[in-house]
Amino acid sequence: MRGPLIAGVVGAVIMASATVAVLSDRTAAQSPFGDPNAEPAPFNPQMGALMSMLIQPRHTKLGLAGNAENWPLAGYMLKELRQGFAVVAKAVPRWKGLPVPDLVDAAVSQPLTLLDYAIKLKYRRQFDEAYEGLTKGCNACHATTDHAFVVIKVPDASSFPDQEFAPQR
Ligand code: HEC
Repeated sequence: MRGPLIAGVVGAVIMASATVAVLSDRTAAQSPFGDPNAEPAPFNPQMGALMSMLIQPRHTKLGLAGNAENWPLAGYMLKELRQGFAVVAKAVPRWKGLPVPDLVDAAVSQPLTLLDYAIKLKYRRQFDEAYEGLTKGCNACHATTDHAFVVIKVPDASSFPDQEFAPQR
């Protein structure tokens, strides 16, 4: 057993020194990912990252909660999604010249209001209709912003295996 173990350790040491050699060669020619000695830049996520962080998961969770008729969770996710859009519109007021607050308002304000009523009334059929309207709003804005290929749909499964969507008693 000891032979292969020592060989492994020696191999790892050789590889580590090779990596260091590559890194020190690199200091002159800079990495395409930037300068390791630079000041840390403030985190400034752009539209695609904001959609993935603040909008898509909240849209999914809202749909899953409504589907399970878990109204307290649906109400919470609706609030979170609304705040997500507010953050996006403030962080990126213009996207390639287009006014983001106006686009968001046109695309999702009405369905968000209808969802709010449906959740307060615990009215499943109105929830489903308004959620479809919201999802169409996502896609309408994607079409307006040259991203018609980013197609949002009503979730058909949970992508959150560690979260319970069923109502709790
Ligand atoms: C302001 C109009 C607008 C609205 C409203 C909007 N989006 Fe987007 N979305 C964009 C733009 C613009 C991009 C492309 C950003 C980029 O890559 O530069 C995008 C990209 C995305 C992406 C791709 C990001 C990735 O990296 O995978 C997802 C997912 C997404 N949106 C989800 C949604 C969902 C869900 C909704 C509705 C709840 C929504 N969007 C509503 C403008 C919008």
